[in-house]
Amino acid sequence: KRKIILDCDPGHDDAVAILLAGIAEEIELLGIVSVAGNSYIENTTRNALILAEMAKLDVPVFRGSSKPLLRKQIVAPDIHGESGLEGANLPLPTKKAEEKNYLEFMAETVEKFPNEITFVAVGPLTNIAKFVLNYPHLVSKVKELVIMGGGIKFGNVTPRAEFNIYADPEAAQIVFNAGFNLTVFPLDVTHQAKIYMKEIKEMQNFRSEITSKMGLLLEFFHQTYYDIFKIEGAPLHDPCTIAYLINPDIFEFDEFYAQVETKGELTYGETVVDYWHLEAPNSKWALKVDREKFIEILFDNLKKYN
Ligand code: BDR
Ligand code: CA
Repeated sequence: KRKIILDCDPGHDDAVAILLAGIAEEIELLGIVSVAGNSYIENTTRNALILAEMAKLDVPVFRGSSKPLLRKQIVAPDIHGESGLEGANLPLPTKKAEEKNYLEFMAETVEKFPNEITFVAVGPLTNIAKFVLNYPHLVSKVKELVIMGGGIKFGNVTPRAEFNIYADPEAAQIVFNAGFNLTVFPLDVTHQAKIYMKEIKEMQNFRSEITSKMGLLLEFFHQTYYDIFKIEGAPLHDPCTIAYLINPDIFEFDEFYAQVETKGELTYGETVVDYWHLEAPNSKWALKVDREKFIEILFDNLKKYN
């Protein structure tokens, strides 16, 4: 079993990632850490708590960073709604986030299981950058850092920048240069990992309350993607990282040297990727996914909730 800590900003696709990580037998979810991104930290933390509770996951939730390192904060109500998770009536969580500081939790877990912990980060990279700054000696003891972020051919907030990177480019640049065993799921691949309306309707009829609610939430997400990007099918960005840990063979990869633009006027927050391998690589990038197999992994697992 892969021991993971999931760093997220739920968020519709983050919510799917939580549900998938929480039930897959290949994965042991040790903790969820929230970060401000799709919405403010109060919202992303509350959303993480309610998802964990409704899914009956016995997993601690930690409240992470409320602001990016340097830049002015941005959130994404146009995609995820004001609460960060619009589209279904969700109750308020009965539990609170853990008292313990999230960075201490991350560090203690890595110290307890050296070279066994995988960090999965599917929001802005603020928490991970702070981990690097506070515990540089622990970076090499993290088995792998798997992120959803960036884009080689296109962005989604600006023509060149993807949301998770754009929301905290300085943090992302620290993370890309920290020396992690880094695997990246950029927009290039996550826009192939689409879920279509017919499949969302199917999910609404799965037997558990949490999965049928997830289906309603995804209907909202599908609509915002249609309204803004004029595409059919909602890209399930964040669950790609979890599907990869379940079965890496459904993806195709290449290794690149990549940096994050932190000064550009038109390119602020772009992941600048050395496509021709002129430099030694610092990260592995997923480029293709078998969509049918991805949905199969997702559905087989979500159907286990009851
Ligand atoms: C990323 O931004 C967020 O809106 C999604 O949750 C995903 O992590 C896609 O650019
Ligand atoms: Ca996210």
